Amino acid sequence: MDQTEKKRQAAIAALDYIDDGVTLGVGSGTTVHQFIDALAQVRDKIAAVVASSWDTQSRLEAQGFEVSDLADTGDIDLYVDGADEANKHFQMIKGGGGALTREKVLAAASRRFICIIDDSKLVGTLGAFPVAVEVIPMARSYVARQFIRARGQPILREGFVTDNGNQILDIHNLSIPNPPEMESRFSQLAGVVTVGIFANRPADVMVVADGKAVRRSER
Ligand code: 5RP
Repeated sequence: MDQTEKKRQAAIAALDYIDDGVTLGVGSGTTVHQFIDALAQVRDKIAAVVASSWDTQSRLEAQGFEVSDLADTGDIDLYVDGADEANKHFQMIKGGGGALTREKVLAAASRRFICIIDDSKLVGTLGAFPVAVEVIPMARSYVARQFIRARGQPILREGFVTDNGNQILDIHNLSIPNPPEMESRFSQLAGVVTVGIFANRPADVMVVADGKAVRRSER
């Protein structure tokens, strides 16, 4: 089974978590695209929907959803998003699509976070996938130097501007033995908007499709 079909299966399984009257947060990426495509099936249950990126917003609108602003909805009942990597503690690397800042805000504001992935995303230790770091443009060289000191290899994502008007440094070869500590430490660097380590607010549920079955585990 190809990876797209696995993503579709994980996405469809996430529909089971949608209760009547839910305020739903929707992440970004190709797994989430599959989720959005399936969302019309439960349209009547959704009281409000909030998007983590302009891409997600336009896809939701194309499906006929009116997208709300987090500032108006208050906290989110359920947040559904993919990941680039996930470990057994439900900690993740996210931001491959560059939407990490709004994704982290929605994750923080959500009562329940469902992570939908195919089994290729499961890892023992986070860090093989480069960690995206959103930086304000004038700080990019300073921040890059701090990551070099931490033995990472920062590469500017050329020609990419985030939904917030910022830039992305992709940090390769970063060793991440303690994800919550590293997330906290790097988030404090001046000029960093968001680090793509999602560990202090891990997912609550992992939905993993491996081609044979969809496994659901709760933290
Ligand atoms: C975007 C993300 C995505 O969740 C992550 O990149 C996974 O994407 P995909 O579902 O396309 O594999 O964090 O910023």
